[in-house]
Amino acid sequence: MKNLNTLLAGVFLAVALPFGALVISSQVQLGSLGRAPAEEGGPLFPSREPGLAIQGRAVYVSLGCVSCHTQQVRPAGQGSDIARGYGVRPSVARDYSQQKQVLLGDRRLGPDLANYGVRAKELAAVHEAIKHQGAFEFLYAGDKKQVASERAIALAAYLQSLRQDYSSPEAKLKQ
Ligand code: HEC
Repeated sequence: MKNLNTLLAGVFLAVALPFGALVISSQVQLGSLGRAPAEEGGPLFPSREPGLAIQGRAVYVSLGCVSCHTQQVRPAGQGSDIARGYGVRPSVARDYSQQKQVLLGDRRLGPDLANYGVRAKELAAVHEAIKHQGAFEFLYAGDKKQVASERAIALAAYLQSLRQDYSSPEAKLKQ
């Protein structure tokens, strides 16, 4: 019986210690991260997500976009993301603090989208990008696939909302 108690205590510790280390310590470190001004008294970043963008994220998830696109810009020493124009500074935890579901991704077949909203100047170009030369044309109607469905409209709003171009306390923009 004594051995059984030791065994159970061991099992408990084997579960509780990693849980404490991984979940609780990250919650303590990052859980209270919120919006911060880029300069004293300035507007707070990151901005809250527009409602249509929140719907668009659900479309992004349902269509598996995350299987080919990441949303994280690596620091200059760890890759060529900034040189490639994926972002103007590395991504930091605070950038994701307003997102209910963070879609960092782990495979990058297409470009990183963390800062896509800044690159995407024209809405028409966003819709062209979504179509991927055919693969996602089913989101559009009409002979020339020029009529965006509700899903495509929400998805475009989500893509346009992705931006990490503000100065953050952890990642200042170079002047
Ligand atoms: C099978 C892999 C794959 C999937 C799935 C995929 N993409 Fe892409 N995507 C790519 C590739 C590759 C490119 C680059 C195409 C090019 O430059 O011509 C790209 C380009 C893009 C671009 C343009 C990026 C830029 O910097 O110009 C956007 C926006 C985009 N994809 C959004 C999406 C969305 C939204 C979905 C889900 C509906 C999605 N992708 C699903 C592979 C994928």
